[in-house]
Amino acid sequence: MAIQVKDRLFTIEMANTMYQMQVDSYGVLCHLWYGAKTGCSMEYLMDYPDVGFSGNIYDAGNVRNYSLDNRPLEYSTIGNGDYRIPALSVIHANGTKALDLRFEAYEILPGKYQIPGLPAAYGDETEAETLRITLKDKFSDIKVILNYGVFEKLDVITRSTVIINGEKDAVTIDRAHSLCLDISRGEWEWIHFHGRHNMERIVERNEIFHGIQESSSRRGSSSQQQNPTVLLCEKGATEERGLCYGAALLYSGGFQTQVEKEQMRQVRLLMGMNPELFSWQLNPGEAFYTPEVILSCSLEGFGTLSHQFHTILREHVCRGVHKLAERPVLINNWEATYFDFDGEKILKIARQAAELGVDMMVLDDGWFGKRNDDCSGLGDWFVNENKLKCSLHKLAEDINGLGMKFGLWFEPEMVSEDSDLYRNHPDWAIQIPGRDPIRSRFQLVLDMSRADVREYLYESIRNILNSANIEYVKWDMNRSVCDWFSAMLPAGRQGELPHRYVLGLYELLERLTTEFPQVLFEGCSGGGGRFDAGMLYYCPQSWCSDDTDAYQRTQIQYGTSFFYPVSAVGSHVSAVPNHQTGRRTSLEARGVTAMAGSFGYELDLSKLSREEKEAVGEQIRRFKQYGPLIHNGAYYRLSNPLKDNLAAWSFVEKDQSRVLAQGLTFRVEPNMRRYVLKLRGLEPAAQYQLVKGTELEAGQIYTGAALMAGGILLPGADGDDKAFEFYFERV
Ligand code: GLA
Repeated sequence: MAIQVKDRLFTIEMANTMYQMQVDSYGVLCHLWYGAKTGCSMEYLMDYPDVGFSGNIYDAGNVRNYSLDNRPLEYSTIGNGDYRIPALSVIHANGTKALDLRFEAYEILPGKYQIPGLPAAYGDETEAETLRITLKDKFSDIKVILNYGVFEKLDVITRSTVIINGEKDAVTIDRAHSLCLDISRGEWEWIHFHGRHNMERIVERNEIFHGIQESSSRRGSSSQQQNPTVLLCEKGATEERGLCYGAALLYSGGFQTQVEKEQMRQVRLLMGMNPELFSWQLNPGEAFYTPEVILSCSLEGFGTLSHQFHTILREHVCRGVHKLAERPVLINNWEATYFDFDGEKILKIARQAAELGVDMMVLDDGWFGKRNDDCSGLGDWFVNENKLKCSLHKLAEDINGLGMKFGLWFEPEMVSEDSDLYRNHPDWAIQIPGRDPIRSRFQLVLDMSRADVREYLYESIRNILNSANIEYVKWDMNRSVCDWFSAMLPAGRQGELPHRYVLGLYELLERLTTEFPQVLFEGCSGGGGRFDAGMLYYCPQSWCSDDTDAYQRTQIQYGTSFFYPVSAVGSHVSAVPNHQTGRRTSLEARGVTAMAGSFGYELDLSKLSREEKEAVGEQIRRFKQYGPLIHNGAYYRLSNPLKDNLAAWSFVEKDQSRVLAQGLTFRVEPNMRRYVLKLRGLEPAAQYQLVKGTELEAGQIYTGAALMAGGILLPGADGDDKAFEFYFERV
């Protein structure tokens, strides 16, 4: 049992880490510790000076130093003397906002709790336990349940909150974060992942200054601009050293991560739905469920933390038959044709791809309605046979005849004004009456909170999926949302729409993925604009970025790898000059970069030279050989491509019996010494034989210690983007 309770002290002991909290003499649930296992109560470290201007709860009487403003709390609220950022804010019927939460009860349950209508990590009683702590406002019948899901072996705790209105009147929740983590000691840095379209999840590391720092999205989706993941680490922590915490939100809408360093240098981390886009009327007797946060702690730097997140996301968030299965090598026609294709052109690409060993042909945007550019057609989910010059059934059949699977692109949540759907149902699009709608890529967003909209989408997509042998769906979403209004909600409840949109999206995804369990769903949003743990619950992989330039991709995939498993990262080889950057990189550089993901191609292979085609065939054979190691092995970041002159990573078999190291060198200088690459995660005393490697002698044997402490010499750099690949087996 990972969860132990003694005299109101709650200790969660996991494989390597410990989380501890305590109900104090006033019934307040305080956070005591998150870090190394200590085997005792950490209360002795708590020291609470009397801080002027910090409010005292009334029942503390003359105890001047008792203030919620200086205690590490498990869940912070407003109006109780704690002036730091609140996790929860509720407006009572009389318009006031205070909440003073005190302990009421707890329960320990086998297995991992689930959340109605929202994605959540899952685990049976052999894998997980649930601790449920109920708090109650001292002055009203508002209750707050804090759920802790504990995956003991994985050093993972999930957090989510339920707010219950036991009052006679409705209340309004205007802020309900999923995670509140107070850290009372230490000097901390935070790492978050920012970006833009074509440049997602760029790592940024900053000192935490006094005040509040934030990373958030108010775009209705998790966004390219910020990712709903965050890392807090001890100053100076590295891949291999230092205490660090990671948090990932299982939510695909607007989010907010806030980090506050307060007057006593304590740090509070909050994560949850973005309050700027949220309010919720909670009627008497109703419960509101926040999304879930996955929290993990590593005592030995980012590498271990990433492994913990990769395992929990791949094995306990991703679902369905594909989650651990080898993924098909696919070819997508988008960069090969854009909107300009017919069935024959697609078949031609497929024929060439089949010859080279590609498993699946994916038909991207433009096969439906009137859709020859991005100005029209979205919403009209019926096949444009005039354009294809054949039925979808026939096209899929022909592709299957080549020994390939067939996959299809959808962008269900969108509508073009020039579409039958919009002409028939203008009120289905999100826009504010009396104002011009905000367009983006010429399109509007459907009101996913509406049951009739979801029913239409369900029926349309279902019909298409039943009309042909479709084994893969790319679920795209190509704009941010802003002019929120739903005809279905009364004026006072419009603030609920952004969250209701996400709930509607999840409901539709749940319905379709349940009805079509064999279909592999890949998430997408203008590349990696909705690459979040919530979407991974429905789609076990996600298109990482519209930027397919190998050089830039190593930076994008580097940032992505801090939280997300390699199998979740859709990654393709495309043509040169690259369509996003104009850069020319070698085919091998594009190949190894795309292999660190769910691999595929996105170009017209028939335009390649004979040598290039042979190289593609060889890449596919290599991916099929190494694929299980790439997706099931432990992933190591061996360089920081944002700073170093190389991008390098490796995959180590869980039993340390083999390792594949890959990467690129760049920013070449004259008269350079060769780079040395130090491997990680091997058995020091074991002997590893080089089976295959760039310029190194195959058959050569090294000890694990030598490969880790000394490293291997990379090929001499004689041009940018030189790719390398080494494969060792233990002898
Ligand atoms: C988005 C996706 C691309 C492609 C286009 C089609 O930008 O990220 O991969 O599917 O839409 O319009």
